Amino acid sequence: MEKQEKEREGIVHAETYRAEDDRDVTLRPRNIAEFLGQAKIKENLTVFIDAAKARRESLDHLFLIGPPGLGKTTLAQIVARELGADFKVTSAPAMDKPKDLVGILTTMKKNTVFFIDEIHRLKPAIEEMLYIAMEDYELDWIIGQGPGARTMRLPLPKFTLIGATTKAGNVSSPLASRFGISFRFSLYDHADMEAILRRSAGIFNVSLDDEAAALLAHASRGTPRVANRLIRRMRDFALVDGSPSITKRVVANGLERLEIDALGLERLDRDILRMIIERYAGGPVGAETLAISVGEAVETLEDYYEPYLIQAGLIQRTPRGRVVTPFAYTHLNIKQERLNANALF
Ligand SMILES: Nc1ncnc2c1ncn2[C@@H]1O[C@H](COP(=O)(O)OP(=O)(O)O)[C@@H](O)[C@H]1O
Ligand SMILES: [Mg+2]
Repeated sequence: MEKQEKEREGIVHAETYRAEDDRDVTLRPRNIAEFLGQAKIKENLTVFIDAAKARRESLDHLFLIGPPGLGKTTLAQIVARELGADFKVTSAPAMDKPKDLVGILTTMKKNTVFFIDEIHRLKPAIEEMLYIAMEDYELDWIIGQGPGARTMRLPLPKFTLIGATTKAGNVSSPLASRFGISFRFSLYDHADMEAILRRSAGIFNVSLDDEAAALLAHASRGTPRVANRLIRRMRDFALVDGSPSITKRVVANGLERLEIDALGLERLDRDILRMIIERYAGGPVGAETLAISVGEAVETLEDYYEPYLIQAGLIQRTPRGRVVTPFAYTHLNIKQERLNANALF
């Protein structure tokens, strides 16, 4: 399915969110105080930033782990701003050859913050070059081929690498071990989500009722990117419905129109649950098989859909695959026994 088609159908996709972030930089928190939730991360980060500044040293390399939309890119930008340092950004898939990395490393100044998104996808030759850059602040590369090849070595200024990934398990241990600090983001709780929704409503200059905020917080999958997307849509619905503010009614109707239920499940979430229940008798079923069954990429399934389904208590990950919980049956209003019996045939 084309991206726009998905959007039209109300199926939310990680890439759709990304496009919306670019359109709406106004919502991105600019400093630690504006970055809501993740208290533990902020507390530690503040200490490390203050210490680095006091010692006039570069901040240790920082590893950010967590599902999409939780604020990894935002936090990386904030770190650079708090340090008063330059910010350079790329993503692992965007670097094809070692020279792409050389091109960035050679333009860095002291204390530059260099952000690499999706760092689990680095090509091996680039990753090796990065090891040396991170550890020895040197750039090693080979010029030419065969007997005439020689190694060039260039000193680099002390910089801070920030690597972000949705898949810590896919990051090699030599790379992971070169980060002095690592933070694992967890999904935001309802109180944090409400605060984020209120902040965004404030920036949009639209009033958001308490009950509406609570409903939206429950439907935002613990993910600020989703919350911001929902508030934009609710603002649209309120406008078209002639409502001066985002009320509980606007939200209830709006979520229904978007086919998002009270738990924040989208159609594809429900398809995933139904698929496990109806075709695999409740599980276990492997992620690859499940992804093919619902017609999604396994990455999208694992990075975007699953973390929330697990946190909401609807599925469990077991060594043999994914299993739905009794709560999934209740939530979808499906009787458990009947289906298990049917699955025997
Ligand atoms: N802690 C937070 N407080 C307020 N808004 C946030 C927070 N984290 C993320 N956001 C919002 O969510 C959007 C997605 O965050 P982003 O940093 O792009 O996530 P990631 O890089 O983890 O996918 C941002 O544009 C920002 O507006
Ligand atoms: Mg990001």
